[in-house]
Amino acid sequence: MEFQKLYDLLDSNSMSSFSDYLKNELPIFFSDINHGDYFKWMKYIDELPNITVSKFDFTLDAVTIGDKSDCSIEERAILKNNLMKLKPWRKGPFNIFGLFLDAEWQSNMKWNRLAEHIKPLENKLVLDIGCGNGYYGWRMLGKKAEYVLGLDPSLLFYSQFIATKKYLPDANIDYVPLGIESIAHENLCFDSVFSMGVIYHRRDPLMHLRQLFQHLKSSGELIIESLVIDSENLDVLIPNDRYAKMKNVWSIPSLKLLTKWLENTGFKNIKVINTQQTSVDEQRVTEWMEFKSLDDFLDIKDKNKTVEGYPAPIRTIIISEKP
Ligand SMILES: C[S@@+](CC[C@H](N)C(=O)[O-])C[C@H]1O[C@@H](n2cnc3c(N)ncnc32)[C@H](O)[C@@H]1O
Repeated sequence: MEFQKLYDLLDSNSMSSFSDYLKNELPIFFSDINHGDYFKWMKYIDELPNITVSKFDFTLDAVTIGDKSDCSIEERAILKNNLMKLKPWRKGPFNIFGLFLDAEWQSNMKWNRLAEHIKPLENKLVLDIGCGNGYYGWRMLGKKAEYVLGLDPSLLFYSQFIATKKYLPDANIDYVPLGIESIAHENLCFDSVFSMGVIYHRRDPLMHLRQLFQHLKSSGELIIESLVIDSENLDVLIPNDRYAKMKNVWSIPSLKLLTKWLENTGFKNIKVINTQQTSVDEQRVTEWMEFKSLDDFLDIKDKNKTVEGYPAPIRTIIISEKP
């Protein structure tokens, strides 16, 4: 993957130490990959048909790359076949040359809940921590962000991103397949930082917030999305093992506690913009994600409980500012 545009952008925005770090780290990282599936995924991407994109639109619910008329029926069949080999597609939807890629999550629903509340992204530098396959990054470009950098250690989601970016190589979006911990030594200066669906997967949520704070410029905005529990108190749920069958859910705070954590980290102008129970319309099985999904993770007799007996997933979105 070519990262020159990212390096240039970081260099011209007082983040040269990060670009120096990546220039050293990424070649080593990519040459050390020994994940067999990764090479298969890259081969499926290489074998995707070469099609010229006549139009794109990131303002629609489905991230739209190309038009149906840009490719032949045969090319679209190869496209579908190879993109299917990158399953499971958890975030979406995408519309790629008329192929509707209906992912497990209708991520447009979360985006629509937050898009009108956040600071304008026009001409802004955005960091998306735990970016999944980059769906939201494309939507941020739809809001005219100058540049979006996604960070996520999943090589599958990285591969899905590369498959979409193959058709728009000059788009102002990049994806670095590293975890947030790998940039703990940096003090970056992004205008907006997103951390959606990540904090409850971090063993130390306060440290996560401190790192997000560290990567924002003054007056920059944090958009955090998290599972929460329904409690008026400073409570936290520490699942015994799995939560709604999810591994690595270390702690789920109440809204009050999450807000307190943000305050204690130094954020101000903290605003809760939405809190709601996740519906089985938003997260469900599709042909692009054929495993089990939310409905299977809820108690068959009481859909307000998970199969483990915990409260069913409620998610909140909070925006706040670095002073
Ligand atoms: C629940 S998903 C959320 C994806 C997306 N942000 C969204 O809101 O739909 C959590 C994401 O965090 C990523 N992740 C896991 N560990 C991470 C880490 N150490 N640093 C950054 N991202 C991480 C996972 O690979 C996954 O894509």
